[in-house]
Amino acid sequence: MFSGAAQAERKVEKLFMSTALAFIAGSFFSAFALYHLTGGSLQQLLKPELQQPVAADRYVGRVSDSDSKAGLQPGPSQQPIPSKPILASPTTIPASLPGSGAAKTQDAPSLQSAKTCLRLTTPSLELEYPEDAEAHFMEVNASLDSFTKGHKYHCAAGYCGPWVENHWIHHFSTLWKNRPPGTRLSDIFGPYIPILIPWVDTWVNKGGYHFPGGMIEALKKILRPNVLYITVAQNDQGWLARSGIREKDMPNVLVLSGGGYGHVPVPLLKADENLTLANPVGARKYIVSFVGTLGHAPQNLRGKMAEIMQKWAKELSITDKVNVGSDKNWRDIMTSSRFSMNPRGYGRTSYHLAETLHMGLIPIHLYIDIPWVPYMDLYQKAGIGFNTNIAGFRPLLDKIKNMSAEEVYAMEQRVRKLRESHFTPSGAMEQISKWMTGKDGGGDLRCQQLPKSDTR
Ligand SMILES: *[C@@H]1O[C@H](CO)[C@@H](O)[C@H](O)[C@H]1NC(C)=O
Ligand SMILES: *[C@@H]1O[C@H](CO)[C@@H](O)[C@H](O)[C@H]1NC(C)=O
Ligand SMILES: *[C@@H]1O[C@H](CO)[C@@H](O)[C@H](O)[C@H]1NC(C)=O
Repeated sequence: MFSGAAQAERKVEKLFMSTALAFIAGSFFSAFALYHLTGGSLQQLLKPELQQPVAADRYVGRVSDSDSKAGLQPGPSQQPIPSKPILASPTTIPASLPGSGAAKTQDAPSLQSAKTCLRLTTPSLELEYPEDAEAHFMEVNASLDSFTKGHKYHCAAGYCGPWVENHWIHHFSTLWKNRPPGTRLSDIFGPYIPILIPWVDTWVNKGGYHFPGGMIEALKKILRPNVLYITVAQNDQGWLARSGIREKDMPNVLVLSGGGYGHVPVPLLKADENLTLANPVGARKYIVSFVGTLGHAPQNLRGKMAEIMQKWAKELSITDKVNVGSDKNWRDIMTSSRFSMNPRGYGRTSYHLAETLHMGLIPIHLYIDIPWVPYMDLYQKAGIGFNTNIAGFRPLLDKIKNMSAEEVYAMEQRVRKLRESHFTPSGAMEQISKWMTGKDGGGDLRCQQLPKSDTR
């Protein structure tokens, strides 16, 4: 399933993409924008004085005294880490895996944490762990697997996978396939039955941004209303992408969402960017820069952002310290900046957030309704970036301008320390494993209520 994506296929696919796009540019422009062609971003430290209030009960942790520890771990060296579009390979087997031997009888895994999460959206939801979990997983797998035959990664924004959905499928399928005798589904997936479908690849490659005929019907038929499922989705419009069934019809599927519509924000991974060489903060040319396109986001968010940045710079006579706009040397501009703007795009986040963090730089995530930030509590506690809406943006600019080079440096060091454990593909998969199994206090992913609508 992961053997495809030869160079030639990629070229054909790109050709297909551009032809298709030219065709549908008019009426389907929004579908095109859909899955983050633009790069934008996410995450910030929630400095209380700058944040929109976020209802405390929207974020449900899984216990965890582990939150703040990550910020204290020794950091990686400042050598560039090579960037390779490879799949994260499972290096660790969940601690609960039995070594070998006969199938043991075991209690059903606890559904409590998942129920607490999903009930933020659907208070009346009732769930049971199926007695035939392994058989049901196989049944779901068999009925849906045919829709991914001949699967290959889709290309977008100059990158052709693997994407976060592919990492999830590969990592956890490999764990399951290589399981020691006696392993139960719950040893790897906790209380969840996984749905391992590359949603966006399937939806893009079919042509016209639709799932293959019959896929959604098959899904509807095979999933049981009282069983808890889990999937990873990166589409801005959520796992179902406005198809025949909607999220409210399947409130028992917990969605780990890169794109910005689901229950648990996970990193929206694109190509792994190299960690930048530490460029002395004091010597950087720009205070803040934005290296993307100004269209794409609803309500002209990015246009407004640019205006505010330029007006601010002009008033303070620091126009040479602010840079806005696409540039082929975007990496150089970023490494010459203290802070990198990550406005949301069509969806609540953008690929650029993961890129910024991979580079070891500090993101400023600009949101409209709610921020879409993986590991929200950790962000707040560790302090690795900023979140603001447009109203809080100008005060935030004043604040970051006042930060000393030492403060900025310390903040970047915290980003660098979390890079491997949380933002690389393997770090993100390890966090998903913790979320599902509850290992290490459940890790740092956090649940919130499904947003009121998909992209705005
Ligand atoms: C990352 O570093 C490697 C090795 O230095 C280099 O080959 C690669 O092109 C770099 N990747 C990016 C995206 O700059
Ligand atoms: C079925 O299982 C295989 C192997 O684990 C995996 O590659 C595939 O994505 C799964 N499909 C579904 C629908 O779960
Ligand atoms: C920035 O520093 C100046 C000079 O110390 C101070 O007057 C101003 O209030 C500070 N602004 C913010 C937002 O911290």
